Amino acid sequence: SKNTLIDPFGRSIDYLRISVTDKCDFRCTYCMDEDVTFLPRSHILTLEEIVNVAKTFISMGSKQIRITGGEPLVRKNILWALEEIAKTDGLDELTITTNGSQLESMADSLHNAGVSRINISLDTLNRQKFESLTRRDKFDQVVRGINKVAELPFKRVKINSVILKNHNDHEILSLAEFALNHAMDISYIEEMPLGVISHHDRAAAYISSDEIYNQLSSRYKLHKSELKTGGPSRYYDVDGFNNKIGLISPHSHNFCSTCNRVRLTAEGKLLLCLGNEHSMDLKAVLRDPKATQDSLKTSIHNALALKPERHHFDLNEEPQILRFMSATGG
Ligand code: GTP
Ligand code: 5AD
Ligand code: SF4
Repeated sequence: SKNTLIDPFGRSIDYLRISVTDKCDFRCTYCMDEDVTFLPRSHILTLEEIVNVAKTFISMGSKQIRITGGEPLVRKNILWALEEIAKTDGLDELTITTNGSQLESMADSLHNAGVSRINISLDTLNRQKFESLTRRDKFDQVVRGINKVAELPFKRVKINSVILKNHNDHEILSLAEFALNHAMDISYIEEMPLGVISHHDRAAAYISSDEIYNQLSSRYKLHKSELKTGGPSRYYDVDGFNNKIGLISPHSHNFCSTCNRVRLTAEGKLLLCLGNEHSMDLKAVLRDPKATQDSLKTSIHNALALKPERHHFDLNEEPQILRFMSATGG
């Protein structure tokens, strides 16, 4: 139909992920270096520009918008943008991915703004380990944020854990227990090679989703779930619990054939695939005084033609993608 974006491989694209800032209050060792430099303000889209792009995508058939970062909740006035996007006719779900540091004070406002699902990144339950992994001593603050979210009627809340061998693979079961006891889902993520990071050997840290599954099934009875959120997680129902356990397996179970999404980077580029560089500079269109709403739509249409079929991540090679996760939001 006319109101759908279709890519060259016949996939319909109805899910937009928006990175609202590359800044973060953590420095996770697998994500960025301590001395990372963030983008200058003038390079970053304004919230008005972000809302404009979001509404344009919704008018072109997008049903789900996920707000990411960096850490999206450190962006000033982000609640205003969330409200504007959430109230747009045609959108099914506004969701957010966060490191949890601001949730204690912001969870209520997120719910009131119309955010329906929250994904919270948490890779360890050990306070020292948390500090060495994130380079910030904010474990207690994150847990207070998670407890606050647990009190509120969000549609779903999910914990995201990137599992790295000899770092946190011994915490697979305790992270599941933590999530399920908070009535939250949990996804275990295979790390992707984005950006060159010092002092981190990605190939050595690889652990497959199948190994993670085997550990989980020693404790829980798992059954393939019907749940589909529109993201890459393969969910399992867990006997005795209402929540799901998911596996995100970019290496071991490629999910690109069902890809339904594109990304708006903090800099205003429309990135067609996480694992490739094809992009369209929407900021240039947004800031061109001669451009109209139709030019923006035309650029988005033209961008879709550039969407690659799949990523070719290979942990045994130098990373081919030099951009960091923080500018694209995963
Ligand atoms: P839902 O949209 O609710 O299903 O959430 P999600 O789990 O897809 O999104 P989230 O932001 O929580 O990301 C979880 C992990 O999935 C992160 O590591 C992302 O980088 C990864 N991910 C999300 N979308 C894609 C994708 O299109 N390709 C790849 N390779 N990884 C993705
Ligand atoms: N590979 C996979 N997941 C990553 N994340 C950050 N960097 C990577 C990577 N290189 C995760 C974060 C968060 C989610 C948005 O992406 O831990 O849970
Ligand atoms: Fe889609 Fe690219 Fe992610 Fe594959 S890697 S699911 S094609 S965005």
